This record gives sequence, structure tokens and C-alpha cells, in this order.
Amino acid sequence: MKAVAIQGSPRKNGNTFFSLTVIKNTLAEEGIDFEIIDIGGKHIRGCTACEKCYENHNGQCAITNDIVNDTVVKMKDADAIIIASPVYYSGIAGTMKCFLDRAFYVAEVNGGWFRHKVGASVVAVRRTGGSMTFNSLNHYLCIAEMLIPTSNYWNVIHGLMPGDAAKDEEGIQIMQMLAKNMAWMLKMRERTKEMKPEQSRKIFTDFIR
Ligand SMILES: Cc1cc2nc3c(=O)[nH]c(=O)nc-3n(C[C@H](O)[C@H](O)[C@H](O)COP(=O)(O)O)c2cc1C
Repeated sequence: MKAVAIQGSPRKNGNTFFSLTVIKNTLAEEGIDFEIIDIGGKHIRGCTACEKCYENHNGQCAITNDIVNDTVVKMKDADAIIIASPVYYSGIAGTMKCFLDRAFYVAEVNGGWFRHKVGASVVAVRRTGGSMTFNSLNHYLCIAEMLIPTSNYWNVIHGLMPGDAAKDEEGIQIMQMLAKNMAWMLKMRERTKEMKPEQSRKIFTDFIR
């Protein structure tokens, strides 16, 4: 089984990355492969609402000069997806938001590629905005019908400068518990995959039609 993590901080070895290494180590003990994909420092523009991914139904975002399309395929091939962001102004960091809007939209309109994969959100923050950002990340997982494992708190680790999060003892345990619960959920999912609920055609209204 394999998990991929989307690392949404422009700081390659910052606190967001640190939280993912904690998860990686615990998942390794459970025999689960793990790949971290850095997107936070890349040039990724936001969704242009061109709807080409919906019209063409070819599994591609029409913006092809960045890593979004290749990364979505890696996410499609994984059993679990972790989306991790630093907190910027109490929200998801900008580049990460651009990535998530496009990646999850492409996956959704091409048949719900992430449906019933295991999905978790993780955030790194100095002081406040952790819960809000955690909630915002979870919106992507919920609309994609993913299976969300929990920890013993919200998945937030604290620190300002790179390395600070390594001193957040409670934050580290939160990441470890998340990884343990994630591993268990992955194993349960594997054993019950013949029992998946049927997919229904989505009702899509905008309250005026
Ligand atoms: C543009 C910017 C906005 C930030 N906004 C917040 C904030 O709203 N609340 C907070 O507690 N920390 C904020 N921070 C601090 C980061 O969340 C903190 O340094 C975090 O550990 C960064 O994670 P990283 O090391 O993975 O980049 C902000 C940092 C930057 C650069």
C-alpha cells in the first residue's frame, strides 16, 4: 500500500515537511510506502474556471506547464493522500490552494478518482489559524468522498522557524496517532474492498434551477 503527501510549504524542510516525516516514519513501521511531493515552492497558477477538464474528460487540467497533471496521476495511483499546508493568514498557503483547486477538480469531474481513498489533512502554524486551515483542507477530502482517519486532536503542529516543530511534543504525538489510525484504516479498507457502497449520480443544484 502506498500513501502520497502533498507538501504545500515553500520551505522545503520546514515544519510542514517535518510533520510529514513523522507520519512517514510511523507508516514505515506499518509497512506502508510513502512519497512526499513538494508543490509549495513551485509556480502553480490558480484554476481559471475554463471547465476544459470537464468538457474534454481526458483527466487533464488545460494548464499543462506545471506539475499539477503529473501529480494528480500519482494521487490517483495511491491508496492514501495527505494534504499538508502551512498556515498563512489563518488559511491555506496560496500555492497550495492553487494546487488543490485544480487537482481536486480534475479528479472530481473525471469520475471521482479519489473516492474511498484514505485522506488526511495536516497543518503547521506558529500560533493561531490552525483549526481553520485544517477545516479548509478537510473540505477537499469531504467532497471527494474520502475516508478520513482521525488522531487524538486536530492535526496541527506548532512552530515558527524550520526545526521548531520538532520541539512540539504533543504535535508529534498527534502526527504519530494519525499515521497509526491511517494505517489501520488502510488495512480495513483493503480487507473490505468488495463491500464498497455503490456510487450515485450526484445531484447538483444551485438553488435557482
Ligand atoms: C505569509 C505568512 C503568513 C503567516 N500567517 C500565519 C498565521 O495566520 N498564523 C500563524 O500562527 N502563523 C502564521 N505564519 C507562520 C507559519 O504558519 C509558521 O511559520 C509555520 O511553521 C510555517 O510552516 P513551514 O515551516 O512548513 O513553512 C505565517 C507565515 C507566513 C510566511
